[in-house]
Amino acid sequence: MPRPRPVTPPPFRETGYDPAAPVYDLEYPECDGAELNFWITEGRRFGPRLLEFAVGTGRIAIPLSRQGFRVTGVDSSAAMLRRAAARHASLSRTTRARLHLRRGDMRTCRLPETVDLALVGFNSYLLLPDRESRMKTLQNAAIHVRPGGGVAVDVFSATSLDATPDHEEVEFLERDPSTGRRVTRERFYTYDEAAHRGCSTLIYRYYDGPLLVDERRLGYSLALLTRDDVVAEFVAAGLQIDAVHGDYTRQPWRDDSPNLIVIGRAVTR
Ligand SMILES: C[S@@+](CC[C@H](N)C(=O)[O-])C[C@H]1O[C@@H](n2cnc3c(N)ncnc32)[C@H](O)[C@@H]1O
Repeated sequence: MPRPRPVTPPPFRETGYDPAAPVYDLEYPECDGAELNFWITEGRRFGPRLLEFAVGTGRIAIPLSRQGFRVTGVDSSAAMLRRAAARHASLSRTTRARLHLRRGDMRTCRLPETVDLALVGFNSYLLLPDRESRMKTLQNAAIHVRPGGGVAVDVFSATSLDATPDHEEVEFLERDPSTGRRVTRERFYTYDEAAHRGCSTLIYRYYDGPLLVDERRLGYSLALLTRDDVVAEFVAAGLQIDAVHGDYTRQPWRDDSPNLIVIGRAVTR
């Protein structure tokens, strides 16, 4: 058996999500199944007006708007929003009218909308650089929610494995549909002990036949938060805890749960 070659991770640098935009939808297809049902149930519980912070290319927001929810999506990445806008343009006229996309920072954006539920899905809350940023985000969500409305955060449940460095090389994409090029992804994962964050560098390589024609690098880090961290942040942001789920089927959160989904209620405005 050949020995695996030692792999040195490249120096870690946060890039923002622009480099991921061309391939994001291939890697993460539209939300469906249990995840979508979860958000539909929450939307029915709180009301039809939703705000999604870190909407990306609309993976969650688009199917929710198809289900009849009025969704405003905010994201800081121009390239991710351009993909979302292209998908928006291909929706039916009635669905299109229910989905609004805005460029902004989830910590600071101010929108004219008042909504029934504000959500930060799919680990995006962990991208925020520190506790202060997360608190600002929760407070900002609460500002946009009607009294008694909901604020929800869905992140993965951190485990001791998240402190283990990792490397994978995956030829996960068939073709980039816009160019017809084959795309591969190489991922390096390191753990920043001082910041208690998991740092990922993803290198996307684009091939024309055997020829490497483009290479883009995405660097992002995720805070490794416990249940108690997130619950404490909700409470400190003035939100009342409504539920803490461990997965999309609403099992109570446990140490080995895949997800940590915290739902809060805005008590006052
Ligand atoms: C993992 S993607 C998730 C996108 C989408 N919610 C989904 O489920 O596919 C994370 C998104 O968060 C956005 N983001 C990161 N920091 C942000 C911030 N401070 N304000 C707004 N968007 C932010 C990125 O631009 C990126 O589109």
